[in-house]
Amino acid sequence: MTEKKDNPLILAIESSCDDTAAAVIRNGKMLANIIAGQKIHEQYGGVIPELASRAHQQNILPVVNQALKIANVTLENINAIAYTQGPGLMGSLLVGSQFAKGLSLALDIPTIGINHIQAHVAALYLGNPLPQFPYLCLLVSGGHTQIIKVTHYLEMEIIGSTIDDAAGEAFDKAAKMLKLPYPGGPLIDKNAELGNPIKFTFPMAKVSGYDYSFSGLKTSLLYFLQKNVKETPNFIEENMNDICASLRYNIVTILLKNLERAAKDLNISHLGLAGGVSANMLLRKDLQNLGEKNNWHTYIPAFEYCTDNAAMIAIAAHYKYLNAEFSTLEEVPFAR
Ligand code: KG4
Ligand code: ZN
Repeated sequence: MTEKKDNPLILAIESSCDDTAAAVIRNGKMLANIIAGQKIHEQYGGVIPELASRAHQQNILPVVNQALKIANVTLENINAIAYTQGPGLMGSLLVGSQFAKGLSLALDIPTIGINHIQAHVAALYLGNPLPQFPYLCLLVSGGHTQIIKVTHYLEMEIIGSTIDDAAGEAFDKAAKMLKLPYPGGPLIDKNAELGNPIKFTFPMAKVSGYDYSFSGLKTSLLYFLQKNVKETPNFIEENMNDICASLRYNIVTILLKNLERAAKDLNISHLGLAGGVSANMLLRKDLQNLGEKNNWHTYIPAFEYCTDNAAMIAIAAHYKYLNAEFSTLEEVPFAR
């Protein structure tokens, strides 16, 4: 059943990594946005795929039921069901996609498979004002770091990306070396607020075009810590805030340098931020400053829409619904 309705009511499910999330949206207005995180991975210092899919199995029904309850709707009211098709962990994606397909068959409504990266960008459409096209979006998450030229809601072209680690991954790997629990990005950010960003300097990798590279930072941090801990055993503990501030300064500076260059080269004066790392306080502040300096418009998502959530899947699905871009039951999840 792929007939379009006015004022569509869409249930959206996100299960690409270690958060089980559901949202309900009516004609672009968010009615509910529920998320269940998975604490179990903290003790392993990273996401364990098998444990993630098992937790999704346990969480998905309660999370969906709670979203329906908060939205004050029943399954019979829903016009389409959206799910994250990829990229992500295959076992995790399968839980959400199979759940969506099962519901679509039972309710005789269409499914809408959503690209997780496009959905992070679409989180900007939950804000006010809406970004003006064309705009450049700096997409920074745990798995991706890209500069994307967006010409219409879901029409996007990647013009730069990381050739190795993603920015979120760089934060998390650095945090692990500093013995901070997973995911370390938010903790580095928090400690950095109390530290001196120019106390220590780390090299900034130069890559061609608008691409990024963060693997060198990891290596230089490793040697830096080895050398200093040898001389001062409590070096990390005594300098935690300054190390975090210096690392954060390095990553944010590299991220914005390329974005600024791309904006100038392409003559685009509207810039957005998306993905988990867009919760970073320095990145948010510095993008805003960059905009003020150049007289550019900047769009920064609300904190709740930065890291993985189903609201972003729902708003991306809303625009697909308007174009009647439905998925078939044969479509399968993709890991990358
Ligand atoms: O978008 P996201 O929730 O998941 C992926 O699609 O990957 O991004 C998660 C990433 C993690 O690497 C996490 O450490 C990072 O976003 N992150 C942050 C902050 N909050 C989340 N990194 C730096 N500063 C933050 N405040
Ligand atoms: Zn994500």
